[in-house]
Amino acid sequence: MVKQNITIIGAQWGDEGKGKIVDWFSSNVDVVVRFQGGNNAGHTLIHQGLGEARLGEAEKVILHLIPSGILHSKTRCVIGDGLVIDPAVLVQEIQSLVQKGFLKDPSRLVVSERAHVILPYHIRIDQLREKRRSKEAIGTTQRGIGPAYEDKVGRVGIRMGELVRPEIFAKRLQESLPEKNQQIEKILGGEGFVFEEILLKYSSYGEYLKPFVKESVRLLEGWERNGSVFLFEGAQGVGLDIDYGTYPYVTSSHTVAGSVSVGSGVPPKSLGRILGVTKGYATRVGSGPFPTEERGAIGESLRQKGEEFGSTTGRPRRCGWLDVAWLKYAARLSGIEAWAVTKLDVLSGLSEILVGVGYEGGRVPTLKEDWEVVKPLYETVPGWREELSAVRRWEDLPKATHQYLEKIEEWTGIPVALISVGSSRDQTIVKREGLWA
Ligand code: GDP
Ligand code: IMO
Ligand code: MG
Repeated sequence: MVKQNITIIGAQWGDEGKGKIVDWFSSNVDVVVRFQGGNNAGHTLIHQGLGEARLGEAEKVILHLIPSGILHSKTRCVIGDGLVIDPAVLVQEIQSLVQKGFLKDPSRLVVSERAHVILPYHIRIDQLREKRRSKEAIGTTQRGIGPAYEDKVGRVGIRMGELVRPEIFAKRLQESLPEKNQQIEKILGGEGFVFEEILLKYSSYGEYLKPFVKESVRLLEGWERNGSVFLFEGAQGVGLDIDYGTYPYVTSSHTVAGSVSVGSGVPPKSLGRILGVTKGYATRVGSGPFPTEERGAIGESLRQKGEEFGSTTGRPRRCGWLDVAWLKYAARLSGIEAWAVTKLDVLSGLSEILVGVGYEGGRVPTLKEDWEVVKPLYETVPGWREELSAVRRWEDLPKATHQYLEKIEEWTGIPVALISVGSSRDQTIVKREGLWA
C-alpha cells in the first residue's frame, strides 16, 4: 500500500459504497476526515463482530457523521469544519459505537469547533418546506441540512464551539429563535419552539460533546507535519453538489473534491490521490434528473439484488444503468484519477448491460428544464451469468466482466483501481497493484 493522502469522492448521486471503500483503506491511513455534508449521509460498514460472542459474525454499522475509519483502533477521525451536525445524532452515534466495543480511546475522535449545529428548527423548516412543495419536493432527507447551511452562509448559524459553551449558546439561541419561530408559524404554518426546552436539551448535548470539540485545523497541520497520512471521505456525490449537481435537486454543500480544502482547512495540495467511487450501475434517492433510470422490471431487479434502500431514510432508491457521460463530467470536476467500481456482483445474471455513453444534444445540461427532456445515448455490452461475490482476483473475473470494466476505462479515460463484489472488506479486488493499493 502506497503511503500518501487520498481523497474519496462519490461520482454519482450518493450511496456509491464510499463507506465500504473508506473502511477498506483505513487500516493504512492515520487520519480519516469528513469535510462536508451532515447526517444526510449514511455510510455502511460491515465488520466481523468484536468480542467472543460475536466473533466472526458479520455486523452492520451505519455512520451518518463519524468518519468511516472509526472501526480501526489506531485511526483518528475528524468531523471537519465544513459539516453541519445534529448533536442528537452525533451523541447517539458515539454511544452506539462505544456500546459495540469501538472508540475505546475517545481522543481519536475530533469534532471541529467551526462546524455548524443543526437545531430542531432547521429540521422543522426542512420538513414543512418539503410538505409545501408537494409534487415539486426535492425529496430531502428532512434532517435540516439545507436550512442549517442557509444560516451558516447567512452568518446567523451556531457553531459547535458555541454549543459547548452554555452562556454563548444561550445568547446565540436567543438571537436566532424568534425569527425562526416567526418563519415556522407565520410562513410555514407549523408550531414554533420554546427557548428553554431547546436550551436545556442542547446544552446537555454540548456538555457530552465538549471533550471532542477542538480546533481541528492546527491538529491536522501538526499531524501532517509529523508524517500522518490522511484520507478525506466525501459524502453524497458529485450529482448532488450545490453548484455542479442537478440543481435544484441537490444537497446544500459542495461534494466535489475542491471541497476538501475549504471543508477541513488543509491546503489544496494535501488532497493526495483522488479516487472516484461509482457503482457498476446507477441509483438515486429523492427527486431529480436521472437520464438512465429504469422504471420497470430491470430497475426493480437491481433494487432487490442490490438491496437499494436508503441507509439514512430507508426509502427505495431509484435504479438504472451506468451513465459514463455523467462520470466523465464528475471526473473532470473532481480531478478523479482512478475508479473504485462497486456492487459489480449485483449485475450478474443480466444477458446484456446498457451504458449511457452520451446525451442527445451532446453535453451535460445545466438547467432543470433541459435535464427534464435530456435523452441518453446507449451502448450495449454483453453481461455475465457467474456470481462474483466469492471472486478475489482480477484474473478470476469472467471475461465479460473484464470487458465491461475495460469499456468503463475506455469511455471515461480513467483507470479502474478497485472493484467491489460485496459489502464486506474482503470482497474487494485490487486491479492496479502498487499504484493505488
Ligand atoms: P455510501 O453512502 O456511499 O457509503 O453507500 P451506502 O452505505 O449508503 O450504500 C451502499 C450499500 O451497498 C451498503 O448497503 C453497502 O453495504 C453495500 N455495498 C457496498 N459495496 C458493495 C458491493 O460491492 N456489493 C454489494 N452487493 N453491496 C455493496
Ligand atoms: P451518502 O453520503 C444519497 C439526497 C437526498 C435529496 C437531496 C437533498 O450516504 O451518499 P438533503 O437532505 O441533503 O437536503 O437532501 O440529496 N441525499 C443523498 N442521497 N446519499 C446521500 O448521502 C445523500 N445525502 C443527501 O435524498 O435527494
Ligand atoms: Mg449512503
